[in-house]
Amino acid sequence: MIVGSTKENTTLEKRISITPDSAKNIISLGLKVCIEKNYASHLGIQDDEFKNIGVEIKNSSTEVFTSSNLITKVNCPSEEEITILKENTILVGMLNPSKNKNQIHKIIHKKIKPFSLELLPRITRAQSMDVLSSQSNLAGYRAVVDCVAEFEKAVPMMMTAAGTVPAAKVLVIGAGVAGLQAIATAKRLGAIVSATDVRSASKEQVESLGGKFLTVEQSEDMETAGGYAKEASDDYKQKQADMMKEALKKNDIIICTALIPGKPAPRILTEDLVKLLKPGSLIYDLASEQGGNSAFSEPGKINTINGIKVIGVKSLMNSLPLTASSLYAKNLFSFIRNLYSKEKKDFNINLEDEIIEKSLIKKV
Ligand code: NAI
Repeated sequence: MIVGSTKENTTLEKRISITPDSAKNIISLGLKVCIEKNYASHLGIQDDEFKNIGVEIKNSSTEVFTSSNLITKVNCPSEEEITILKENTILVGMLNPSKNKNQIHKIIHKKIKPFSLELLPRITRAQSMDVLSSQSNLAGYRAVVDCVAEFEKAVPMMMTAAGTVPAAKVLVIGAGVAGLQAIATAKRLGAIVSATDVRSASKEQVESLGGKFLTVEQSEDMETAGGYAKEASDDYKQKQADMMKEALKKNDIIICTALIPGKPAPRILTEDLVKLLKPGSLIYDLASEQGGNSAFSEPGKINTINGIKVIGVKSLMNSLPLTASSLYAKNLFSFIRNLYSKEKKDFNINLEDEIIEKSLIKKV
């Protein structure tokens, strides 16, 4: 059985789905691995590094597609790639089925088996495959690094002979995977950090990282049975806005990470709220590609309003593609290990396995 991977469109996506380390692990399962030539040269990883561990280098993506039983990708294949993929191929990636309906329709019509790793159940056994967590954790870290680079003041408190520099104040909105890493990173850099979330369970996690939790007074808890957030009621939104009015005046850097699975990003910072920030402050909106948690946020742009910078994030993982690829490829290896039966020497699409059942897209 052969696992293959082709180059992504590297102007849009710098991550790769198989690294030399993950290829070694896949080969240790008894599988063969092939990749397209110059697969990772944009990351400084040359073909020889793969070749030396037994990976076969093919001259074209067509050769990889036609000779592999399982194809790994970062993103959904293009329409052109789908025409080359052969029947019964297993496809694994972050296929984003709600966005790529046409492609997924064609994939299923061609009797290709598409597994989308964003659909994995959040159960203990699937933790090592959890691409949303591995990538969002990095996003939270990178958000702080970008904010610090863009902020025109120092972040930690400094006591010098020339005077004392006060510590910057960071507010994180949404304390999920990205939010918690943003809190931890901002604390490490010496900022004074506070955070808020609709799930009251996140209070303890924020406090364990040294952050101050801002509670929306007299509000109900918005957590679903699955541990995700529900859409906030109008009453909650009003109370949250009242709380924000005070918090925004005191903070220098606002990092927005609020997300409700399957819904557009909740709009938390309205135009009026944004304008309450001090000039020189900045808003970093991780949710800008999903519609934005903040007014004035546009993916890939920095908009300045009354001296307040609103940074809209786009393709953030392209800022740290080596680490993102390394974690993504490890997630993928764990998924392949679970799918492959060493006894049968074949992939085993066992729909009684919750991991396989939930991640296989059956229809669009
Ligand atoms: P998550 O689901 O782990 O966390 C989101 C948090 O927001 C949850 O704790 C939830 O309770 C909270 N929340 C929901 N509605 C809220 C509201 N009205 N007020 C306050 N809190 C609220 O999500 P994760 O994985 O941390 O992702 C966060 C954001 O970062 C998402 O928009 C995601 O798409 C984005 N992201 C962007 C990346 C990029 O490359 N551009 C990479 C990874 C994540």
